[in-house]
Formats: sequence, C-alpha cells, structure tokens
Amino acid sequence: MKPEKQFERDFTRRMNPYPVIETPRLRLRKVFRADVDDLLKATEDARVTKYEPWGPYDRDETVQMVENIQAQLESGLCTEWAVERKEDARVLGLIHLNKIDFFHRSAEVGYWLARACWGQGYATECLKALTVYGLETLRMDEIVAVCHPDNAASLRVLEKAGYRYQKTLPAYISLRGNTADCLQYHITRWDLL
Ligand SMILES: CC(C)(COP(=O)(O)OP(=O)(O)OC[C@H]1O[C@@H](n2cnc3c(N)ncnc32)[C@H](O)[C@@H]1OP(=O)(O)O)[C@@H](O)C(=O)NCCC(=O)NCCS
Repeated sequence: MKPEKQFERDFTRRMNPYPVIETPRLRLRKVFRADVDDLLKATEDARVTKYEPWGPYDRDETVQMVENIQAQLESGLCTEWAVERKEDARVLGLIHLNKIDFFHRSAEVGYWLARACWGQGYATECLKALTVYGLETLRMDEIVAVCHPDNAASLRVLEKAGYRYQKTLPAYISLRGNTADCLQYHITRWDLL
C-alpha cells in the first residue's frame, strides 16, 4: 500500500471515535446541535468575524454552519472541535484542522472564540493542545496557520504556541471587498523534539 494511503487509514482510525482533547481549563470535543446558543454569541459578533471571510451569522446561519460541520466530518477530510470551558460547560468557540494532506502529512489550523472570553489565554491553551495532538497523536509532520497581518492577537497566539513565520501569501483573502495578503505560520513535528 502507498504510504499516503496507509497514513490516511491510520488517521481515520485515530479519529474514530472522535477524540476528546483535555487541557487544564478546556475540553475540545465534537460539535453538537445543542451548541448553537453558545456559538451564536461568537458568530453574531462582527469583532469575532472581522478577519474571517464569513459572518457575522444570525441564528439560522449558525444552525446551518453546525449542520455543515457535521456533514463535513463524515468526509474525514476536515475536523472541528468545540472549545468547551470545563468550569461552566460553556462552548467558547471552535478550533479545527482542515486541508488535511495525507501525502505531505500536513494540515491547516483555524480557531475563533467569543469576545467575552478573550485575553484569558484560552486560544493559546487550545491551540497548544491541538498542535501537540496533531503532531504527536495524528502523526502530522506539519501544521500551518494563515493569518491576516493586522490580526495582532492571533499572530501573538501563534507565536505563544510555538509557530514561526514561514511566508507571505499574496492577495490571499477577500474580506468584504478588500483583498489582502496573508501571513503563513507553521510548526513541524521536529519543533516539538
Ligand atoms: C485570536 C483569538 C482567538 C485570541 O483569543 P484569546 O483567547 O484572547 O487569546 P490569548 O488570550 O491566548 O492570547 C492573546 C494574546 O494576544 C495579545 N493581544 C490581544 N490583542 C492584541 C493587539 N491588538 N495587539 C497585540 N497583541 C494583542 C494579548 O495580549 C495576548 O498576548 P499575551 O498573553 O502575550 O498578553 C481571538 O481574539 C479571536 O477569536 N479572534 C477572532 C477570530 C480570529 O481572529 N481567529 C484567528 C484567525 S487566524
């Protein structure tokens, strides 16, 4: 069997049952329909979606987003974890690995959290945990992150989680009519050694 096929099989096996990732304050777990109320607090907030090509979303759009996530998880080509705060079981936001490339053993991470919880280290905590999970347990060689250059908070989170600047992607994103370059950051399995 080709190595990439074997890797895909192993990846699928490790993702089934859907992994729960624990940190001191957070639980990363599967997204459920019941999470819509919590997720809406983030998706309807223009400050959260400012650097995203989507949103803000109303309730129906957030329901649709959750249904899309559930359908896409079936494909096995992307992942999505709800970021649940253990203390009160509130879902703060989402984090994912997508663009999974079985040949290069790489993936792209993305995340967003509700405004009310910013500045308390939650994004760094869940990014660090998912990065270690992706590189060690899922055996990815590399995880990349693509960030708008003005998104200082996210760039700081990436640095705190050990990601390094890799390259600039010209005219990569269109945000409400404005095209912008993006910065690609990355971390490799060997960085963890
Ligand atoms: C980016 C985001 C996930 C960060 O979440 P968070 O839980 O507040 O992140 P943390 O608390 O772990 O760390 C934030 C860091 O950014 C810093 N920061 C925040 N705003 C900043 C700004 N305007 N300029 C510079 N640094 C800033 C904080 O001081 C902190 O760094 P520190 O610990 O050294 O003080 C959150 O702001 C968010 O959801 N934004 C909208 C979605 C988004 O941009 N996603 C990323 C797309 S690439």
